[in-house]
Amino acid sequence: MSLNVKDYIRTIVDFPHEGIMFRDVTTLFADARGFRIAVDQLLAPYAGARIDKVVGLEARGFILGGAVAHQLSTGFVPIRKKGKLPGTVISQAYQLEYGEAVVEVHDDALQPGERVLIVDDLLATGGTAAAGISLCERLGAKVVGCAFVIDLPDLGGRKLLEGLGHEVHALTA
Ligand code: PRP
Ligand code: ADE
Repeated sequence: MSLNVKDYIRTIVDFPHEGIMFRDVTTLFADARGFRIAVDQLLAPYAGARIDKVVGLEARGFILGGAVAHQLSTGFVPIRKKGKLPGTVISQAYQLEYGEAVVEVHDDALQPGERVLIVDDLLATGGTAAAGISLCERLGAKVVGCAFVIDLPDLGGRKLLEGLGHEVHALTA
């Protein structure tokens, strides 16, 4: 039987808060075939595109983005939650499906004109990705695409990012 990425993802009810159906990708990452399929499918639309850096969103975007960067032979840049990066940073506040947060990037991590692919495990409201895009653009980089394993369309993230003029690629809903 042929499996797709969705078959490797489980849903944990009421995590981290009551009412949240948490899509858990640790089961996808733990499976050699599942992880390979996910990484290959994330980068497939960008075959032949010029990408200078892959930007991963904390935390699961680091696991996926690192693998995608390795496959594309690009560098990898982490966007982290506030207070985690050691160098000089720029910051961006954003709303989450369940809370509020600030993300940061090193101010010398991207050069003006560099073309970046943003990678994360999941698109919900789009707040995290929009904040990540904003950080990249504030450093003068061009966001070529945003790639996710999971899109939760009812939460509006795709609409938000596409409304901002960005291409969204997701493997499953
Ligand atoms: C999750 C997920 C995305 C974000 C998506 O991360 O991995 O980064 O939420 O939500 P949004 O589209 O509504 O912004 P989370 O904030 O739970 O942080 P973590 O990866 O550090 O656990
Ligand atoms: N981030 C925001 N909403 C989420 C969900 N439902 N599952 C996993 N990560 C999330």
